[in-house]
Amino acid sequence: MNGMKKTVIHVVGARPNFMKIAPIFVSIKEQNQRNNSLFIDQFIVHTGQHYGKEMSESFFSDLGIPNPHFNLNVGSGSHAYQTANIMLSFERVLEELFPDLVVVGGDVNSTVACAITAKKAGIRVAHVEAGLRSFDRSMPEEINRILTDSISDLLFTTEQSANINLSNDGISPEKIFFVGNTMIDSLVQQLKNAIQLKTMERVNLYGNGPIKYGLLTMHRPANIDNADVLSGFLKTFSLLSDNIPMVFPAHPRTVKQIKENKMEALFSTTHEVLRNKKGMVLIDPLGYRDMLNLMRSAEYVITDSGGIQEETTYLGIPCLTIRENTERPVTIDYGTNILVGQDPELLSEEISKIISGKQKKGVVPALWDGKASERIVDTISSFLKS
Ligand code: UD1
Repeated sequence: MNGMKKTVIHVVGARPNFMKIAPIFVSIKEQNQRNNSLFIDQFIVHTGQHYGKEMSESFFSDLGIPNPHFNLNVGSGSHAYQTANIMLSFERVLEELFPDLVVVGGDVNSTVACAITAKKAGIRVAHVEAGLRSFDRSMPEEINRILTDSISDLLFTTEQSANINLSNDGISPEKIFFVGNTMIDSLVQQLKNAIQLKTMERVNLYGNGPIKYGLLTMHRPANIDNADVLSGFLKTFSLLSDNIPMVFPAHPRTVKQIKENKMEALFSTTHEVLRNKKGMVLIDPLGYRDMLNLMRSAEYVITDSGGIQEETTYLGIPCLTIRENTERPVTIDYGTNILVGQDPELLSEEISKIISGKQKKGVVPALWDGKASERIVDTISSFLKS
């Protein structure tokens, strides 16, 4: 090829990063094959914030991207430990590759650690899913978002609220690009593969045929770190699962809390759930495609995750978010999402509505069309050429 060559690093670290970054990697690869004026040499750097098959490795094969070119293996630890160690190791990767652009996604510790390291090394940064705000600074993610946005050169947004937030923070408009949602790109690309999977059979919840179920995910410190709050939630869920069984693929930190506080008795076995058609069952975390498959057939989803609020909105599945706020208001204003906070009565009321067919209906937000990565790659290419 005769054109220009540039180097880009994609940073991933925790579970929600993989599906946000994968479609951008794939779009760049496709563009490299078509375009003669610019070749982007791209590398995936995994910080190792999440690790093991279920929390990390399975996502690479599920999303059709290569294994990371670098793994910083930072592992778990306090916020300062994790952030500082990622910065030290990432600096060495930057010295080796000296990229033209570092792409970070979302709001996890890996995002902010790599954005700061790159900027201080004089390297430009693109933030995917910029501008979201919960306006709750007790959430570590809110701090990560504010800091990352404040130093990024390209800010790619998923919804209009983000554009307004960035403008209110004084970010100049020529850095902001409303492109849509790359997490939805991954969903659109993988849904047909996901629906082929026999996920309920695999987790032993099929029996003589399909069963109705609600799906639960919960991992935020505000919901699980305090034993009284956690047990309050689990008791409510257990009561609700008398109507429709509830399936709970649990994050390792949630499982740890359940075990430490001896709350396992609130759960049923898969055998009991199949026999009694009620009860709540704890299962291991699922890979990306299996999770999509369970989500799209659930009667409802209860969650404190950010991404799942968006995925359920796209799929049209009722979502009850056990948080007081959300940084993704489009899922409330246009989608199927409802905030229920830590209020068991509100949760029960909303589930009764769903069971009686009176659930909230939504529409798919603007530009959540599976093409956000293409728009991002067009912008990145012009930026790298200029
Ligand atoms: C992180 C993100 C959060 C995101 C979530 C998605 C930050 C500040 N938080 O939270 O925004 O919603 O990922 O899952 O970046 N652990 C394991 N195996 C793993 C990873 C973690 O056992 O692969 C356990 C460890 O006990 C660890 C704890 O989970 O101490 C917390 O992990 P950490 O990465 O610090 O935060 P998450 O709760 O996963």
